[in-house]
Amino acid sequence: MMDLILFGVFPYVAMTLAIAVGFYRYCFDRYSYSSQSSQFLESRTLFWGSVPWHYAILLILSAHLLAFLFPSLWGSLLGAPGRLYLLEITGIALGVVTTIAMLVLLLRRASNARVNVVTTTIDWVLLISLLLQVITGVYIAITMRWGGFWYVHTVTPWLWSLVSFSPKIDFLVNMPFVVKLHAVNAFFLVALFPFSRLVHVVSIPLAYVTRPYQLVIWYRQRNNQL
Ligand code: HEM
Repeated sequence: MMDLILFGVFPYVAMTLAIAVGFYRYCFDRYSYSSQSSQFLESRTLFWGSVPWHYAILLILSAHLLAFLFPSLWGSLLGAPGRLYLLEITGIALGVVTTIAMLVLLLRRASNARVNVVTTTIDWVLLISLLLQVITGVYIAITMRWGGFWYVHTVTPWLWSLVSFSPKIDFLVNMPFVVKLHAVNAFFLVALFPFSRLVHVVSIPLAYVTRPYQLVIWYRQRNNQL
């Protein structure tokens, strides 16, 4: 029963919340569609957390997505040992980068008084869930060998069964606990999306590429700065 709720019902609840509340927030509170940057309060530590985090997580999520959308292509890509080793090692290395980067970002919010003031409960929930997600991901990749390969025979059919509204939870129920945790926490992050800064993932500032640059100049004397 619990498995049915976690792997057959909760993903739909999470997706419904993400779409419905996300849309509502977009219509009625569009200004909040942002990462609410704290860069002007502290930028050095942010750089060492945020930049590696974003490059690494985007590559990892692209791999998750490719294996879901094109399983046979992904399977044949990993079909030769050399390519399999390369992809697994790259995945683990990127996963370690995301873990360290997330620890940096968490410590920054905990230790910098100015940043701490603007940090809300939902920020902590989000950052800790992201940390849990990357730690469990790396743990799976290291201890359950060739995850890139078995993903296409377990995770991919489970996700497609959700897409086709006929959830086949059997693909997940016999998995080790940590894989289940990784899967449920992924949908918990989807549920958090409309309530948190995570909404910024859909507000990619493409217009920035073509717009004229802006020059930002301090209006005050430097010694009067906060
Ligand atoms: C919020 C979405 C997700 C994030 C941020 C995330 C993050 C990660 C990270 C950081 C890794 C380790 C690096 C790697 O091997 O690629 C990983 C691996 C893995 N993830 Fe996820 N993940 C997400 C969703 C999912 C979902 C829904 C599943 C389904 C159960 C899943 C299954 C796996 C598997 C099987 C591995 C091991 C891959 C391997 O050994 O190469 N992930 N994930």
